Parts: sequence; structure tokens; C-alpha cells
Amino acid sequence: MDKKRTYAIIGGSSGIGFALARKLTERGDRVLIGGRSSERLTSAVNSLGPLATGKTVDVTDRQSITLFFSDSPSLSGIFTPAASYNTGTFRDGSLDTSEDLFRAKFWSQYWAIHEALPYLRPDAAVVLMSGAASVRPIGAPAYAACNSALEGLARGLAMEIKPIRVNCLSPGTTDSELWRNRPADVREPAYDYWSKICIAGRPASSKEQAHAALFLLDNTNMTGSTLFCDGGYTLR
Ligand SMILES: NC(=O)c1ccc[n+]([C@@H]2O[C@H](COP(=O)([O-])OP(=O)(O)OC[C@H]3O[C@@H](n4cnc5c(N)ncnc54)[C@H](OP(=O)(O)O)[C@@H]3O)[C@@H](O)[C@H]2O)c1
Repeated sequence: MDKKRTYAIIGGSSGIGFALARKLTERGDRVLIGGRSSERLTSAVNSLGPLATGKTVDVTDRQSITLFFSDSPSLSGIFTPAASYNTGTFRDGSLDTSEDLFRAKFWSQYWAIHEALPYLRPDAAVVLMSGAASVRPIGAPAYAACNSALEGLARGLAMEIKPIRVNCLSPGTTDSELWRNRPADVREPAYDYWSKICIAGRPASSKEQAHAALFLLDNTNMTGSTLFCDGGYTLR
């Protein structure tokens, strides 16, 4: 009998999601990864090997999420780091930008778990993605609120959809493609600033975040929690 487990990772073609897909396939699990770019998905699937499959999805579009899960196998877990958004200040930022942020990061994960629910095994685990600005904002109050909302969603879902476990990973600044694709004159000052305001003195790696996500997927006593993988940022 095929004992392999399958995990869905929406946002699995780069960064933290890809690093988790790598860890899961390396230990013999299957992954179904999603992202908007078919080129990026193909490249990720080729790199991960035969235990990986990819399917395009845009998490800002509910119908696209429905299609993503339309022929899903039974799932042992789901991780939802996919999001593209802008942030801004309350006084001068655009109201549309703040509303779009919630669609891109909060509602996308809410919709994804809703669509995935029929395919999640009773012993499955959900890992939502927030960010450490939830409890220690650096400007952009809507971004702080969005991350706090996701951490609240993990607690609420953990109550309602038990025995499925639901937790949230809350990273600090992480050296992923999200930052590497930004110009060096934006990225380097941000990394320097981050290194000064956290205890670890450096950004995290995608592998470190994936390690934290894997713990939340695997540990059968973890539910309703938020794990801050942030180099001590929220402590200071
Ligand atoms: N890196 C950090 O410093 C940091 C810190 C705190 C929180 N986070 C959170 O971590 C998450 C992922 O970060 P990352 O650093 O791993 O980013 P990343 O390297 O840019 O990866 C993002 C992944 O999501 C996919 N994606 C983006 N928008 C999507 C959409 N609308 N629909 C479907 N897929 C989409 C991307 O593929 P396509 O572009 O092909 O769609 C890619 O696979 C985000 O939620 C972010 O807020 C990151």
C-alpha cells in the first residue's frame, strides 16, 4: 500500500513555501504546490523531483482556488504562504492598498482553507502564514492588523474544525526571493535595520522558516498557536 502523505503548499514555487516543499519531498512525502507563474512552478517541480506536482492558482481569485482543489488528493496538511501585496501608512497611504492587502493575504488564506476542507484528513494540520508585525508593527497599521487577524483565524479555526489542527507561522524578515527580487538599495538597508532591531542580528533563512512550519505540521499537540520565528524581534 502507498503510505506517502500529500501536502498542499499554496505559494510553494519559491521562498519559504518552496523550502518546506523541499523538506517534505526529501523525507518521502508528496507535495502539490501552487503559484501564479507556470514557469516558476515547472522549474520548482523539476527541482523537487517526482514526488512534486504543480498547479497554477491566483489566491486573490476565489474561483481559481476552487479549481486548484477540484481534483485534489486527500491531504495530510496545507501551508498557505502565497501573497503579493503593498503596504502603506494610515495617514498618507491609499485606502485601496490596505483593502487589497487583506484580500491578498487574509481572505486568500481563509478561502483556501475553506476550499481545502473536504480534502483534509481528520488528522491533517493547517499552517497559516502571518508575520511578526502582528504584535510589533513597523508602520503600515493595516499590515499589522492583517497579520493579527490571521493569528486570530488560526485560534478560531482550531476550535471549529478540530480534530484538524490549525496553527500560524509568524516570521520576521527572511532572506527569501521576496526580498532578493527587490533592488539591492531597498533590500540591504532593510536587512541592516532588521539586524539591529532583532536579537539574532540577521534575517532568517527560508530553511529556518520551513523548519518551523514543518514542526507545526508534525507536532500533534500543537493547535491554535502562533509560532514566532523572528530572531527575538517581538521580545525587544
Ligand atoms: N520574507 C519575509 O521577510 C517575510 C516576513 C514576514 C512574513 N512573510 C510572509 O511570508 C509569505 C511568503 O513569503 P516568501 O518570503 O516565501 O515570498 P516569496 O519568495 O515571494 O514566495 C511567494 C510564493 O507565493 C506565490 N504567490 C504570490 N502571490 C500569489 C498569488 N496571488 N496567488 C498564488 N500564488 C502567489 C509565489 O509564486 P508566483 O509569484 O508565481 O505566484 C511564490 O511561490 C508572505 O505571506 C509574506 O507576507 C515573509
